[in-house]
Amino acid sequence: MAEDKITGTLVFTVFTAVLSSFQFGYDIGVINAPQEIIISHYKHVLSVPLDDRKATNTYAVNRTDSLTSVTPPMDSTPTYLAEEEARQSVGLITMLWSLSVSSFAVGGMVASFFGGWLGDKLGRIKAMLVANSLSLAGALLMGFSKLGPSHILIIAGRSISGLYCGLISGLVPMYIGEIAPTTLRGALGTLHQLALVTGILISQIIGLEFILGNHDLWHILLGLSAVPALLQSLLLFFCPESPRYLYITLEEEVKAKKSLKRLRGSDDVTKDLNEMKKEKEEASSEQKVSVIQLFTNPSYRQPIIVALMLHMAQQFSGINGIFYYSTSIFQTAGISQPVYATIGVGAINMVFTAVSVLLVERAGRRSLFLIGMIGMFFCTIFMSVGLVLLDKFSWMSYVSMTAIFLFVSFFEIGPGPIPWFMVAEFFSQGPRPTALALAAFSNWACNFVVALCFQYIADFCGSYVFFLFAGVVLVFTLFTFFKVPETKGKSFEEIAAEFRKKSGSAQRPKKATVEMEFLRAGEAV
Ligand code: GLC
Repeated sequence: MAEDKITGTLVFTVFTAVLSSFQFGYDIGVINAPQEIIISHYKHVLSVPLDDRKATNTYAVNRTDSLTSVTPPMDSTPTYLAEEEARQSVGLITMLWSLSVSSFAVGGMVASFFGGWLGDKLGRIKAMLVANSLSLAGALLMGFSKLGPSHILIIAGRSISGLYCGLISGLVPMYIGEIAPTTLRGALGTLHQLALVTGILISQIIGLEFILGNHDLWHILLGLSAVPALLQSLLLFFCPESPRYLYITLEEEVKAKKSLKRLRGSDDVTKDLNEMKKEKEEASSEQKVSVIQLFTNPSYRQPIIVALMLHMAQQFSGINGIFYYSTSIFQTAGISQPVYATIGVGAINMVFTAVSVLLVERAGRRSLFLIGMIGMFFCTIFMSVGLVLLDKFSWMSYVSMTAIFLFVSFFEIGPGPIPWFMVAEFFSQGPRPTALALAAFSNWACNFVVALCFQYIADFCGSYVFFLFAGVVLVFTLFTFFKVPETKGKSFEEIAAEFRKKSGSAQRPKKATVEMEFLRAGEAV
């Protein structure tokens, strides 16, 4: 069948598109390894008068030597004043570092609402090109941050890179979903997450001290995401525009056919064209739905709550606490080469993402999500026990390290990839764009909260930090068990019926809606 052929143009186009996902992952991972080096540069720029050990105020330092645990004497002796000054400086540095990490998620949060809109306004290709200008601007600010007020340049650069990632987290899965043949949609869709985790891993590797993660070259490390952005900008000129965008949005049948012929490597594109015609009819038979309607209309309320909870579960599991801060967590856990352990996390993350590509079409979404969450719950307990008992038994460092590796593996089996495409399965054509935008927004908002607060929570809870995440994971696991329906292989009507069953309501849906054949293939958004 011509439709199932993997053509050179398809491979080239998907490769070009996921260069964005790669950048997204690079930006997530890049801030991790050089944390202490950049912090010491901030100190230098701000002339913070502290010795290295206290000024970094990393999680590692705080476990045994938290400045917050110092009880100030009730006098104003020079010693106390110096301590007070030190405390304030440490606070300032912690705040600047937390902002350097989390400003990325603020950008993502703001832009995640506009990916689909930009894609409709300009077309997918032009939208990706425009988005790339943000990526370049962010990379330039960070690449030159060593020459100026580095903390300001890095925070600004990461916000702009975040805007880019927010846009492409909608655009790329949409474009791939639109150009992929039906039977390959699931597999090609997950390449977004695979490229993302590859980006995380590469940033961790070139962040090694003897490569770019050192006092001389850290700014180059941060600015390097300009390379895939430039490469993608060049390659995009050779990619075909999405035939669905051309046909359904612009009503340009001739152009859509031309693009399909290139993608399929065949002159006979009737099957694709018929499919698009059906989609067009479906799209015009359903009204677009507003955010408020998602919550007020009883047929949408339960699915949107579950959708938001899935994304919250993914982020509040603390996964990005690991990706942003693993080097200092490993240091705390007594690992002598924490940066290599971080790279181990990146590698395992990549392997298990590949495993989930194979599993997700066999096992159900709900079961994989649940298995992942339960596994993560036990891992957080082991991580905490490992950290708490480290002072008594030095081999506990291996318990913590193994627990972190397993935590990441369980995450990628279910809670990592599933929310991104399961939400699309909850909704029919009308409410789907709004629901997806809201879900992406909630994902980024929670990502922001974790990025901003993790350092503070870690400073406050010390070795007990992961007990907190264990509690959170448990709550979301119970929610999933009671409220999340299975969607694999089900039509929209059947999914809606499952939701009614779960919410205990006998109410009928407002209207029977189209069966979403393409979603059954388990494709991404
Ligand atoms: C998912 C999450 C993202 C996380 C990544 C890790 O894509 O949405 O926040 O960093 O997985 O692999």
